[in-house]
Amino acid sequence: MNTYLKEYKKFMKIDIKGYSKLPYKKWPNEWKDIYFKGYPRFKKFPLDRNIWDKNQNELVNLLRHRRSKNFFPVEKNMTKGLLSYILLGAAVTKVGKSVYSDSYRSYPSAGRRYPLEVYIFLRRSKELHSGIYHYHVRTHSLEFLWNLKDQDIYNSFKQHFVKKSSLIIIITACINRSKIKYGEIAYHFMNLEAGHMMQNFILLLETKKRGYRNIGRFDAKKITALLDIRLEEEIPLYAISIN
Ligand SMILES: Cc1cc2nc3c(=O)[nH]c(=O)nc-3n(C[C@H](O)[C@H](O)[C@H](O)COP(=O)(O)O)c2cc1C
Repeated sequence: MNTYLKEYKKFMKIDIKGYSKLPYKKWPNEWKDIYFKGYPRFKKFPLDRNIWDKNQNELVNLLRHRRSKNFFPVEKNMTKGLLSYILLGAAVTKVGKSVYSDSYRSYPSAGRRYPLEVYIFLRRSKELHSGIYHYHVRTHSLEFLWNLKDQDIYNSFKQHFVKKSSLIIIITACINRSKIKYGEIAYHFMNLEAGHMMQNFILLLETKKRGYRNIGRFDAKKITALLDIRLEEEIPLYAISIN
């Protein structure tokens, strides 16, 4: 079996609750200290610290103030408008007549193979039925797959903020689209691409001042079962919980 998948299967066996057992106050210092690499022996050329003040624009302001939320104080509803906004902006951008461009996306993809797929767990909306949907990129539509129990969502992530989310987005990779061109290195690329797409999601959410928290720690076994995908073909990579 492929080395990456072997490692991934180990990751699937990890008890996802393990990391969160210690409350923040009990974290050892080495978990809290932020480390920086430096070369004290070499000369430093200071850069302009005020450059952002001289280049005020929306992106700069978003990057400057971006923050994940630790908890969501109130439960909100997800609207069709916000879903359209973040999905179109994060995954595609070029508008065609009825079909979106094959290879014009808001994130870069190695060799334009676009292995990523997007699913949503919709929890709270007045306009759409809650459940699991797949995002169909070419037509910018949501495909309703099936219903979903709240307990299944919580069990997939076991993180308290999920309980107050209106929506959870899951990015997966259909690895063979990349693998046919790049072989094993495709496993490396898919993670980089998911990071690009995720950054689009969080910046778009910031523009709407909507709370979110990324989720890298999830029960991959549960997620693959809920999405009815096979790991050899499609790998869950990254999730985000949205208030
Ligand atoms: C790859 C990745 C995985 C993450 N996974 C989790 C997670 O499983 N649970 C969680 O509470 N936060 C998770 N986070 C959020 C980080 O804890 C958060 O970004 C970090 O504390 C810095 O805070 P900031 O985003 O407000 O700057 C993840 C972030 C990244 C980039």
